[in-house]
Amino acid sequence: MKLLVTGGAGYVGSVCAARLVETGHDVVVVDDLTTGHADAVPEGARFVEADIAEAAAPLLAEGFDGVLHFAAKSLVGESMVDPSKYWSGNVLTSLRLLDAMRDTGTPRLVFSSTAATYGEPEVVPIVETAPTRPTNTYGASKLAIDHAITSYAKAHGLAAVSLRYFNVAGAYGRFGERHTTETHLIPIVLQVALGTRDKISIYGEDYPTADGTCVRDYIHVADLAEAHLLALEHAAKGEHQIYNLGTGTGFSNREVVQACREVTGHEIPADFAPRRAGDPAVLVASAEAATEHLGWTPERTDLRTIVADAWEFTRSRA
Ligand code: UFG
Repeated sequence: MKLLVTGGAGYVGSVCAARLVETGHDVVVVDDLTTGHADAVPEGARFVEADIAEAAAPLLAEGFDGVLHFAAKSLVGESMVDPSKYWSGNVLTSLRLLDAMRDTGTPRLVFSSTAATYGEPEVVPIVETAPTRPTNTYGASKLAIDHAITSYAKAHGLAAVSLRYFNVAGAYGRFGERHTTETHLIPIVLQVALGTRDKISIYGEDYPTADGTCVRDYIHVADLAEAHLLALEHAAKGEHQIYNLGTGTGFSNREVVQACREVTGHEIPADFAPRRAGDPAVLVASAEAATEHLGWTPERTDLRTIVADAWEFTRSRA
């Protein structure tokens, strides 16, 4: 298929673009490089450096079989202090993309949604029919886009799949996580192992969990990429399918730090800091729907494997 990958110079986007090229698709990456890196665009993909809101219509006029839409602002904390960046950057850009898809008759969309659309869950593991009550602007902006996609699918026959990622981690060869401002747990802990940070501060030790720290569902980025390939195949005209992508198993922040110690062989000093605003205690996915309908089964579910791949990537870039 000829596919437009927005945000293909970013973390998840670059891994998925690489897998799409490897599986024989004709890939065009569009990215404005505000958070992405030009050298993360995989060999074999055409790269267009541009603002997606501006570039979508002229690019799609070339004729594409589908779009994978990764490009987004994705920092929860930032979304609470600079909401405009999220409403404009995420929602307005996505609406321009959807209009361009409608106008050019581009048939398929795979959208990067997020577990943050659910907010604080009442029941864990989280199923797709759980209430969507985001606790931050990032999640609210992604949920707004999901609603828009539903109505475009109904009205214009778009074949759409939204994938709600839980905590993405790990790396795929030379493609990995390298944010200028790093806020995610595993990359920060690995920076401590590398010696570029003194310690990890764990936010909160009084959560209602077994060891008092938050619990998250870590999904290997390579498994996530496989779900995108399957979503492209299973997208159906006029339908908006939504799937959670996680492993169904949660690890506490303490367990993550311990796994990083074991994998890296470094001591990794840790202390405790107050809770971070907007952090739910437990976020664990039910991925049963993705397994049943997409035939997706995550294979790299061992936390040490995920951390080991992230560590190899981190060291290779040091
Ligand atoms: N954490 C720390 N110290 C740090 C950084 C993080 O203790 O220095 C903790 C957080 O408080 C949280 C856990 O590590 O308890 C995981 O935090 P991350 O920032 O790595 O990830 P989040 O769970 O906050 O968010 C991620 C994505 C979101 C997505 C969410 C879904 O960034 O886009 O997973 O689970 F919505």
